[in-house]
Amino acid sequence: MNYPIWEVPSGGLLIAFVAIVHVLVSHFAVGGGLFLVLAELKARREQDGAFLDYLKRHSRFFILLTLVFGAMTGVGIWFTIALVHPQATSSLINTFVWGWAMEWCFFVIEIAAAMVYYYGWDRMDARTHVRVGWIYFIAAWISLVIINGILSYMLTPGSWVTNRFFWSGFFNPTYFPSMIMRTFVAMGLAGVYALLTASWSRDPDLKQKIARYAGLYWILPMAVAVPLMLIWYLLAAAGANVPVAEILQADGEGLGAMIAAIFTAGGESGQPVAQRAAYYSVVASILVILLTLAIVGFRRRSYGRVSTISLLLLALVAMGGGEWMREDLRKPYVIGQFMFVNGVRLPAPEEVPTPPAEAAWQAKDRFSVDALNANGVLRTALWSPIDVGEAATGLDPAARAEREAEMGAEMFKLSCSSCHSVDGYLAIRPLVENQSVAALERTLSNLARPVDSAGNPTSWSDPGLQLATWRGRRMPPFVGTDAERRALAVYLSRLGGTPDAGVEAAVPDAAEATVPPGLQVYEDYCSICHQPGGDWPMEEMVKGRDAEALYDLIGRLPEVNENMPPFEGTDEERRALAEYLAGLGGSPAQREDQP
Ligand code: HEC
Ligand code: HEC
Repeated sequence: MNYPIWEVPSGGLLIAFVAIVHVLVSHFAVGGGLFLVLAELKARREQDGAFLDYLKRHSRFFILLTLVFGAMTGVGIWFTIALVHPQATSSLINTFVWGWAMEWCFFVIEIAAAMVYYYGWDRMDARTHVRVGWIYFIAAWISLVIINGILSYMLTPGSWVTNRFFWSGFFNPTYFPSMIMRTFVAMGLAGVYALLTASWSRDPDLKQKIARYAGLYWILPMAVAVPLMLIWYLLAAAGANVPVAEILQADGEGLGAMIAAIFTAGGESGQPVAQRAAYYSVVASILVILLTLAIVGFRRRSYGRVSTISLLLLALVAMGGGEWMREDLRKPYVIGQFMFVNGVRLPAPEEVPTPPAEAAWQAKDRFSVDALNANGVLRTALWSPIDVGEAATGLDPAARAEREAEMGAEMFKLSCSSCHSVDGYLAIRPLVENQSVAALERTLSNLARPVDSAGNPTSWSDPGLQLATWRGRRMPPFVGTDAERRALAVYLSRLGGTPDAGVEAAVPDAAEATVPPGLQVYEDYCSICHQPGGDWPMEEMVKGRDAEALYDLIGRLPEVNENMPPFEGTDEERRALAEYLAGLGGSPAQREDQP
């Protein structure tokens, strides 16, 4: 909200695409370095000229891919995240200034050493050449170790949330599983790329040597270790307050339940993404093992490009799946327990130390949930073109709805467009089809609420808070004033094709005259799931039930179906609803005249 919004259809996917390509290259940059040094030592020890020649050629490929392409995609990541998530990018830079500085020092060492290594094959004695190789690998690995601190912090910032201490954020609860997993991945990828370049060779002896060495000592350890590390990582995340079991839709908190959940098919919509991604990652790892064994076992002297490129693609899926899962586990936060994907922050917990120079900023964070609820999003967002001074009250209903829809469109852009597009990826239009303004307002109020570990309501500044989200959808809470909530609801109901007649009817002062009380309660509490034309139209649900039976049923909705929230209205509303629904079951015509 501090920055203009760059409207791309799904920035998240764009980041994911650039990031996965970059990750494939940058991990190779680490593992490939170790591979070159160890393989060079082996070749020299065995005085194998053909192998050494191959390594020279391989190092050329290595330099081009990691230095040139790696640097381009690396800059590409900065470019995309700065456009898609300027607020989070700025926050990461501020929190880890010295981390980035260290990172860039090691990059410079890495790049210089890679050049010297490549140009030094024929110009240096063997010992010095190998030493340069070690310098390269160590610098590259340390750059992984540093960036891993920052990436894992984004999911589980740990005690940083309350102490704001650099090393607490850096060595956070998922640091070690993630670091070890990445190291294995780096080594495995080195083996995959070695097979890839060897598949161009026509020398069967060389092919065989590389197949055995790269396949058995580099690829297999990774393919076996990665799924295990993934599970360690999930358990560590679960221990750090990430609702992993809930996200994966597991039946329990334990290890077995989690593994079972990964192998259970998810919903048709592709949600939850994390569960699908983990599934593909594990399956691809298994295929990597099988394909490697097949190459080493049956085709070690004659494997070609088709099999090695397939291996590379499978490795890409295995690791891309892991990264995608990590990204999705974090939702709806962009930085866990600190900032939501739309840039809205949680208010700082009381324990957070306030350095004097920053006191003024800390004391009133304009972009925290509480501040935005009090001051309004449109008033706070620096680049919003909406003039909030022009109040919507006092206009006639049609003009008022027009004005609200305009405000609502801006609210949607600011609060929801980081995940939802209008018609493309995770499109909002079908999700709000035929929904009334009142029903949408109610959904918005319930998108996410802060609860403690026992499920009781707590404040947004509770450091142990968990999110109770609308039907487990893991969305950030709605922030903004009541008028903004209504404006967004009006905009969404228009998107969903609800005619403006409905909008007018829901204007509070006109409501009582036109809407029977039971219908109002129905709109508020039930219509979001039971709209006509949806999966569970209310007429079908209430057929053959009288008001008394329905009154009873409304009192125990979660028992009837676990998807239903308990009814929160008054007894009077419950009575009115029961009567309205009883009429609905008998005379469906009453609803059918509403489109
Ligand atoms: C962190 C990403 C994220 C953000 C931000 C987000 N949503 Fe969602 N939303 C989702 C996902 C995921 C679903 C589930 C979609 C599905 O099941 O197909 C969803 C579903 C919905 C639904 C349908 C709910 C149902 O009945 O199942 C509505 C309505 C909705 N979102 C509105 C909003 C609004 C309004 C905002 C902005 C205030 C918003 N969302 C912000 C991720 C997000
Ligand atoms: C979060 C979504 C959701 C909400 C909100 C919701 N329901 Fe349901 N309801 C469901 C689902 C899912 C079913 C199961 C449908 C099926 O099995 O075909 C269901 C089933 C029912 C049934 C049929 C029960 C049976 O015996 O099979 C009734 C009656 C019903 N709901 C009434 C209500 C009423 C009244 C409200 C509002 C107070 C409400 N629901 C709110 C999701 C919801």
